[in-house]
Amino acid sequence: MSNEKPKFYLTTPIYYTNGLPHIGHTYTTVVADAIRRYKRMRGYEVVMTTGTDEHGVNVERAAQKAGIPESEFVARMAAAWKALWDDLGIPADEFVRTTDLSHVRTVQWLFRLCKENGYVYKGHYTGQYCIYDNAFVNDAKPGDNCPDCGRPLETITEENHFFKLSAFQKPLLDFYKKNPNFIQPETRKNEIISFVEGGLKDLSITRTTVRWGIPVPGEEPHVFYVWFDALTAYLSAVGGPDYEKRGFWPCDLHLVGKDIIRFHTVYWPAFLMAAMLPVPKQVWVHGWFLMDAAKMSKSKGNVILPRPIANMLGMDALRYFVMREIVFGQDGNFSYDALVTRYNSDLANGLGNLASRTAAMIEKNFGGKIPKPGPRLPQDDSLARVASETIGEALERFENFEFARSLEAIWSAIAAADKYLTSEQPWALGDSDADTQRKATILWTTAELLRVVTILAHPVLPDSTAKVWTLLGQPGRVSAVELDGLRWGQTATGVQLGKAQALFPRVEKSEAIERIEAMANEELNPAPPAPAAAPAHATTASGAAAAPAAAEKIGIEDFAKVEMRVGQIKTAERIVGADKLLKLTVDIGTEIRQICAGIAQYYEPEKLIGRKVAVVVNLAPRKLRGVESNGMIVAASVGPEGRPVLAGFPDEDVEIGARLK
Ligand code: MSP
Repeated sequence: MSNEKPKFYLTTPIYYTNGLPHIGHTYTTVVADAIRRYKRMRGYEVVMTTGTDEHGVNVERAAQKAGIPESEFVARMAAAWKALWDDLGIPADEFVRTTDLSHVRTVQWLFRLCKENGYVYKGHYTGQYCIYDNAFVNDAKPGDNCPDCGRPLETITEENHFFKLSAFQKPLLDFYKKNPNFIQPETRKNEIISFVEGGLKDLSITRTTVRWGIPVPGEEPHVFYVWFDALTAYLSAVGGPDYEKRGFWPCDLHLVGKDIIRFHTVYWPAFLMAAMLPVPKQVWVHGWFLMDAAKMSKSKGNVILPRPIANMLGMDALRYFVMREIVFGQDGNFSYDALVTRYNSDLANGLGNLASRTAAMIEKNFGGKIPKPGPRLPQDDSLARVASETIGEALERFENFEFARSLEAIWSAIAAADKYLTSEQPWALGDSDADTQRKATILWTTAELLRVVTILAHPVLPDSTAKVWTLLGQPGRVSAVELDGLRWGQTATGVQLGKAQALFPRVEKSEAIERIEAMANEELNPAPPAPAAAPAHATTASGAAAAPAAAEKIGIEDFAKVEMRVGQIKTAERIVGADKLLKLTVDIGTEIRQICAGIAQYYEPEKLIGRKVAVVVNLAPRKLRGVESNGMIVAASVGPEGRPVLAGFPDEDVEIGARLK
């Protein structure tokens, strides 16, 4: 028998490069990442593809506006998209750019196959075209607006290559019948079946009016219609013409928003059938995140950006919110208020609190070792039953893409554990043998429940569950746990708990929202670059540089970019192998930060505990000697050797988190 793992291939749409990612795009990518992690824990070898859709009139115009060549424009945008996914911890296994040579070759190859099989012919087409959606609108008249986005259509006449979509009405309907799970959810399937039953018109798949596209070999100036180009990215990501070698085609799952369902469930399978290539197994259609009932768009000024939320509450909070808040497949409203409320109630007070209180009690009563349980009472068995049922329910729901229900089940188990602790009151028990045994049973039972929910929640909350896993002293990584073998009762006793790390510090709602909005505002409307510095030719008689020229001064808006707050040092330790650095944890009011400071030669770590300092809190995190530093402590640099002297607040006991202005 071969040990090869079964393969699973899933994709997000490849995103347009004429804008930057907002929460709608992040939503699809987060869901794809959660499914990827889940499938890995189910024993699959998984590939997740995302990428950028870089051709078409929109890009041509955007590049022109930016005054740079298209190739440079898309290179910048693709880099920004890729960097965002990497920063947010949702990197693609395959990131396709439609300007990649391997993709270009795959598109040309697919076209050749369709043509050789007799599904492509030449003709003329005049129609109303939406340059924003890259689609001809059937039945529209000149002067009409696009029925999808409402923007003006343009009349276009051109010589085209047509794809015989009309020939695929019956094959598609047969395919939907034979593969009832191809389109999900069910309501979407019915919508597409009636669309196809209504008849299919042939589709023009090349353009001569567009310059920025993949050339049709031997037919220049024809370039491919962007959707023929873009859909093929799914195949080029896993080998293109050589797809059989990698073994990831046909794709198991395309995740798409409801606006692009037809392209994926009608055109795409028809192109593949025409080329006699295997058709994907499933297209899952999700709804939109709306702002005040409208789709987000930069022009409406109602976009929500992912990075400020991740900076303020952590990426896990954002992931949890988008997967918990709306039913996958339906539309839902996005609100910061709901986001922060869920963060505080489900994450800070829910999972975070259960983890820290369980660990603290084990620490206090059993020296930090998970105790061996004593005799069990019915209430212990009942919590065990809850956990076992939760395993079944959470996994079944996740398997059916009912993410909100899966999380709901997991969080009911957390609530049951909270209730169990409240009624069993291990803290009220004494030190007699019987009481100690009872405490051992209660704390082992709670730790075991925590282990189970940590595993179940891992695909959605990868970072924080990894921290709980370490806290519970569990072996290996939580991501390596096999879900198929997950049962109640697997927590080993006698295991030493690991180090506690801040999980979800509670936040004050209005302040958190204010800070998210301020960061978003800055990202959407970056301050204009400071004027260039004057040439440094002015020197004094002594040869020292003169006072900065006026042009080198910064405006208040530049200073305002630096967010400094009062922090209190909670812990301080030396870093092995780095004699200048101290590793500190600093309470900045809304969270506890780990910060490295180059003060080890001048400050004793023990003497720093409790000291209030000025902290730059909005610096991008970086690693110093391999240790993550998330902020900077402000110090004066004194004397020729630059001895650091910490800035402080000797006059008054200032509040932690107060902003320095
Ligand atoms: N480039 C095409 C896809 C080609 S796939 C071969 C495209 N790009 S897009 O950037 O406009 O949109 C990509 C995805 O983001 C779509 O699935 C779309 O539904 C999704 N979203 C865009 N805004 C959204 C929300 N507000 N909410 C949820 N998803 C939304 O279409």
